[in-house]
Amino acid sequence: MPAHTHDHIDWADRLALLRAADALDAAAMATVARRLVAALPPRPTVVDVGCGAGGMSKHFARELATRSGGTVVLVDATPALLEEAERAVKTEAAEHVAPGSTGEHGPVSVEVRAILGDLADAGLPQTVPPADLVWASHVVHHLADQQAAVGTVAAVAKPGGLVALAEGGLDFRCLPWDLGVGRPGLENRMLAAQAEWFIGMREGIDGAVPMPYGWPIALDRAGLTGVDSFGALVHHPSPGPDSLADYVVNRIGRLREFAGDHLTTGDRATLDALLDATGPHFVGARQDLYLFGAKNVHCGRQP
Ligand SMILES: C[S@@+](CC[C@H](N)C(=O)[O-])C[C@H]1O[C@@H](n2cnc3c(N)ncnc32)[C@H](O)[C@@H]1O
Repeated sequence: MPAHTHDHIDWADRLALLRAADALDAAAMATVARRLVAALPPRPTVVDVGCGAGGMSKHFARELATRSGGTVVLVDATPALLEEAERAVKTEAAEHVAPGSTGEHGPVSVEVRAILGDLADAGLPQTVPPADLVWASHVVHHLADQQAAVGTVAAVAKPGGLVALAEGGLDFRCLPWDLGVGRPGLENRMLAAQAEWFIGMREGIDGAVPMPYGWPIALDRAGLTGVDSFGALVHHPSPGPDSLADYVVNRIGRLREFAGDHLTTGDRATLDALLDATGPHFVGARQDLYLFGAKNVHCGRQP
């Protein structure tokens, strides 16, 4: 079956935003990668399903390079993202494996492979090497049957292999409550509009099946053992890194585009004022932007 997504989203068009988010998440996600890789045997195979621009797999590659080496397998249904992820992760691996370096388990090398694949395809595990760790971040909720997708992700793991899903968490906040334009509290209403968009996105997926329970139960029903969750805080206090203003402008612009219909005319006008680079309220010129959010990682093991 040729790979494609099912959510009517043009993922290739989101490359810049995914890359920017990867950069801002980097410190938090490096810690998550270290924690997950520390639980693996020597020279493990790590599979990243729905890898996007490859941000998390760069951390996996670096962790493997500084230990015994291993293999990172990137899987995505969007060719342009997969290509970018492969380039980025190979570069990261090459930068961190010292030429001729040898560890306790022989020469250290990090192999990076890219596989175009659709997580809706129950045959996917037969096309991907069995994994010591399979990671799937913010991809399962784009599938019609999320429980079936969790089962497919779990089936990529070897017996005893670790499965980690990043889903849920706390959405990023980046704006002060009173922006000096429009009604205060805009960000709360933007997040509510995004939640409405999300419901429509799920309803728009052909054959969408409800999953009326949480992610740990989904992992449990996929037959995994020792199911548990942990969080990772993403925090850039004001004024944040140089890239933050561009990220906020991009994020707000996207939200205006896809969820603007769920906002009032007044809030849409405020967003237009915030996005006007020549106007007095341009959000990209503010010194009080910040980023505060959290990732939620749910783990289980194949028996
Ligand atoms: C929200 S992005 C998440 C990217 C990355 N994992 C992260 O957490 O930043 C969703 C990714 O899943 C991919 N995707 C969506 N539907 C998919 C499917 N059916 N099979 C495989 N990948 C899919 C998209 O191409 C995109 O790269």
